[in-house]
Amino acid sequence: MITVVSLQELWEARQDLPGPVGLIPTMGYLHEGHLILVRQALETCASVVVSIFVNPTQFGPAEDLEAYPRDIERDLSVLKSVGTHLVWLPTPEIMYPANFQTWVDTTDVSQPLEGSYRPGHFRGVTTVVTKLFNAVRPDRAYFGQKDAQQVAVVRQMTRDLSYPIEIEVVPTVRESDGLAMSSRNTYLDEAQREAATVLYRALREAESAYLQGERRGDALRRIMQDTIKAEPLASAQYVSCADRNTLHEIDLVTDGALLSMAVYVGKTRLIDNWILKP
Ligand code: PAJ
Repeated sequence: MITVVSLQELWEARQDLPGPVGLIPTMGYLHEGHLILVRQALETCASVVVSIFVNPTQFGPAEDLEAYPRDIERDLSVLKSVGTHLVWLPTPEIMYPANFQTWVDTTDVSQPLEGSYRPGHFRGVTTVVTKLFNAVRPDRAYFGQKDAQQVAVVRQMTRDLSYPIEIEVVPTVRESDGLAMSSRNTYLDEAQREAATVLYRALREAESAYLQGERRGDALRRIMQDTIKAEPLASAQYVSCADRNTLHEIDLVTDGALLSMAVYVGKTRLIDNWILKP
């Protein structure tokens, strides 16, 4: 496994990689949810590149940029053990040189849900993903369904900017009790960790109503709200039953839907989602 930091080193190492090349963008503190993306890439790509960069521009001023967990030594050792070929660890100065002033932003798809509660978040994501795509020039890039709106935004951006890159989406990896794996789960104490299963429970309750014939978006949202309300340590920021592509809220589900939510457990903000199949 080769590890590089500067753009020059990356470009040189990239030239020697046999294709197809797969890229997995991450912010590090890797868990099984990240590694499944790497394993998936290894199945069909001759070379697998992982980037680790805690991207400051996608964090709001009151968010957890400083506290975001980091453990580069452990990340490198697990990436090596699964068979990663190249790891890129850019610094903030490399990604955002002094006098940086060029941004990539989507207009509609980044507005609702996460976009409305985290203004500027997706502008940071699309800008850094653009820079990762430009620097690594992958044939395929791998993203987790865990961040459903991020997938929609990155797909939109990839189409709009004509990148010859296939966006591959990998199902959410969960703990045995249903909690979606996330680097932010480390913020939870024992009681909060138990309460955090409420996201998964709420999604499954709504799905079960859907499977029994409930099609009203309001009713499905209400079921998720009520489940979260019953958990004293949790409070919902939003719950959504939306079109899987536009992310607009749905009145009546006719062709599947994306259930999603952001929930505070203590001070920790967790997100999760579930696809209702048509
Ligand atoms: P990060 O949160 O580190 O996640 C990196 C990738 O791992 C994302 O595509 C995310 O959806 C995926 N992932 C995280 N938890 C997962 C889980 N439990 N199951 C499946 N996939 C999971 O997402 C980001 O970083 C950043 O926004 C980034 C794309 C790197 C841009 O900075």
